[in-house]
Amino acid sequence: MAKMIAGNSLKSLAKNLSQFLGIEYLETQLEHFSDEELRVQLTVPLYEEEVVIVQSTSKPANDHLMELLLLVDAAERAGARRVIALMPYFGYSRQDKPSYEWGPISARLVATLLEASKVNHLITLDFHSKQLEGFFQIGVQNLDPTALFVNCFDALNDLVVVSPDIGGLIRAQKLAQSLGCDIAVLNKTRKTYNTCEMKQIIGTVRHKNCLIIDDIMDTAGTLCKAAILLKEEGALSIQAAITHPVLSGDALSNLAKAPIDKIITTHSIHHDNLPSNFHFVDIVPMLGAALERVIGRQNKDIIY
Ligand code: R5P
Repeated sequence: MAKMIAGNSLKSLAKNLSQFLGIEYLETQLEHFSDEELRVQLTVPLYEEEVVIVQSTSKPANDHLMELLLLVDAAERAGARRVIALMPYFGYSRQDKPSYEWGPISARLVATLLEASKVNHLITLDFHSKQLEGFFQIGVQNLDPTALFVNCFDALNDLVVVSPDIGGLIRAQKLAQSLGCDIAVLNKTRKTYNTCEMKQIIGTVRHKNCLIIDDIMDTAGTLCKAAILLKEEGALSIQAAITHPVLSGDALSNLAKAPIDKIITTHSIHHDNLPSNFHFVDIVPMLGAALERVIGRQNKDIIY
């Protein structure tokens, strides 16, 4: 029987997931020493167990990453037979290529660290790019939330699915195919990191109800600027489906001013209180089904 433990980022999701799967959730002690080094301790041995460790490497990304690595090491040392890292949000995923001079490929290093810590399998949700899977030698399941989003948009006619940048084109094509509508793509550029500009639109948005799809809202600059441009170009209404609510800096106050009717997102990153135009899709059944496949208790009724 598998056991589940969690880092500080997603304890409530992990508890829900362990109940959904009927597997035991084990508390862990996650504290800091005086100099801020992490102190991680399991409360029981894990001889010959399959252990699922739930952690999103969301803000504070470095602490959450280190917590995960130390939990994996502790589980190994406590006798675990196999360690499965369930990382709904994989921090550093956007740094998947050398996009500026003399910089690292941070996502590849994070993959190397996870493998070095002896993770045996990774399950994640909506990886920033498909090629990230190529950084790993271990098995990776990258779950696609598109099917969950489809039924959450307010029913409207004259729809167009909008990708806020070229990188999100495949995501937009997939949603548009499910809804049987056209797509539009925005020309997003970045002069410096964390700020973006939106210029032309490829496709028609005038007199259309726009559904923006993206993997991450971080500063929400991308989402807010996309919504403003779409409105300026004659869009009737705007809804957005964004998998990972990073929501750093002034994201929430900027979103409050942006012309967006509804934001559909997930609990891949924990937030206590979000505004009423945020709507959450339940990712527990999808994560649970993926885990059941990995730990060998496949439920054939749930296919994602
Ligand atoms: C970029 O390639 C991603 O898909 C997101 O569009 C981006 O990370 C969002 O960041 P922000 O909310 O800070 O504009």
